Amino acid sequence: MNIAILYGGKSSEHEVSVRSATAVVQNIDTKKHNVLLIGITKAGRWYLQSANEVQKVKSNKNETLSITQNQDMVVSIIPGGGTDGGLITVGSNFGAKNLPVDVAFPVLHGSYGEDGAIQGLFETANIPYVGGGVMSSAVSMDKEKTKQIWIHAGLPVVPFVCVRRYEYENEDLWQNIVKNVERDFTYPVFVKPCCAGSSVGASKAENKKELQDSVKEAFLWDDKILIEPFIEAREIECSVTGNTEFTAYTPGEVVSSHSFYDYDAKYNDPNGAQLLIPADLDDAHLRTVREISKKAYRVLDLTGLARVDFFLDKKTDNFYLNEINTIPGFTSISMFAKMCEASGLNYSELIEKLFELAIIRFKNRAVLKTSRA
Ligand SMILES: Nc1ncnc2c1ncn2[C@@H]1O[C@H](COP(=O)(O)OP(=O)(O)O)[C@@H](O)[C@H]1O
Ligand SMILES: [Mg+2]
Repeated sequence: MNIAILYGGKSSEHEVSVRSATAVVQNIDTKKHNVLLIGITKAGRWYLQSANEVQKVKSNKNETLSITQNQDMVVSIIPGGGTDGGLITVGSNFGAKNLPVDVAFPVLHGSYGEDGAIQGLFETANIPYVGGGVMSSAVSMDKEKTKQIWIHAGLPVVPFVCVRRYEYENEDLWQNIVKNVERDFTYPVFVKPCCAGSSVGASKAENKKELQDSVKEAFLWDDKILIEPFIEAREIECSVTGNTEFTAYTPGEVVSSHSFYDYDAKYNDPNGAQLLIPADLDDAHLRTVREISKKAYRVLDLTGLARVDFFLDKKTDNFYLNEINTIPGFTSISMFAKMCEASGLNYSELIEKLFELAIIRFKNRAVLKTSRA
C-alpha cells in the first residue's frame, strides 16, 4: 500500500509529532508498503519529503525526521481525488504529479491534526485515514464537550467550570464565575485550556491571585478554558482500538515527579515521569479501567484508536475519566504502544492494524448513499 505519513503541524505539539512519526516510519514494513512522507511546517504548509528521509531514520535509530521546505514539493489536496490521486504535488519546475495514497496516517497531535480539521480534508479528498472521523475527533479534542458526553453516558468525570473568553472579558460575568468557583471548589484548583494537549497552558492555582494568573495563561492557548478541583490522583491510562469491536489493552500508570504531569515531565525531564505497565492495581481495578475505557471510546463514536486517561483519586479511590487522546503520543516508548505491547500487540502489528481499520471504515462509508438517484 501507499501510506502517507503526515507529521509536524501547526500545533503546540509539533515536536512531539515529529518524534511520533519517526517511530512509525522506523517500524513500518517498507517491503510491504511504500511510504510517502509529508512534513507540515509550523505555519501549516505541506511539503513532500524525499524518500531518503525514510532510509535516514530507518538506518539510524537516533535520527529524527526533518521537514525540508522545497517549493517544488508543495503538497495539495484534490477534492474527490480518491486513492488514485487525492493528494498532488505542485511545483513550478515539474508541474503537477499525482500521488496515489491508500491510507493517510495523520501522526499529528493537537490542533489541525487531532481535532477533525485534517480528517475533514481527507473526507473531502476521499482518502482512507487512520483514526477517528470528523465529529469524534473534534469532540474528543474539546475537553468540555467530551465531558458532557461522558456525563450523559453516566461515566464519572472531574467536576468542572468552563469559561469562554467573552465571559472572562466581561468583568461582571468573570467576578460571578470566580464567586461560583470559590463557592463550589476549594483551592487548589486546576486550570487548563479546553482544546490543547501536552499540558501546555495548564497550571495549578492555590489562591485567587494564582487563579487569575492561571486563567490568563490558559487563555493564551484557547478561547475556552476549564477550572476544576485539583485532584490528588494516580494517573492511569488505557489504549483502545477498534471500529465496531473494541479492544482495551493492559492499563498503565504514569508516576510523575512534578507537582502534576506537566510538559517538562512529559518531554524534557528524563526523571520527570515513570511509566508503569501494567498499572499497579488489583485485577478488579484493571478490569474496571478497561471496561470504562471501552465505554468512553464507544460513546464518542470513535474509530481506529484512542488513549483514555483516568485519575484514581488517592483519597477516595474513585476513578474519574480525565480526557481522551485520539492521536496519542506514538513513539515506541510512548504509553499507547507500550500498553498494546503488554497485551501482545507489538508496534509493527499495531500500525498494520490501524491501516486495516482505516480501510474498513472507508469501505463501509463508501457504500452509503449520497444521492437519491
Ligand atoms: N483536575 C486536575 N487535578 C489535578 N491534576 C490535573 C487536573 N487536570 C489535569 N491535571 C494534570 O495536568 C495534566 C494535563 O492535563 P490533561 O487534562 O491531561 O490535558 P493535556 O491534554 O494537556 O494532557 C494531567 O496529566 C494531570 O497531571
Ligand atoms: Mg493528558
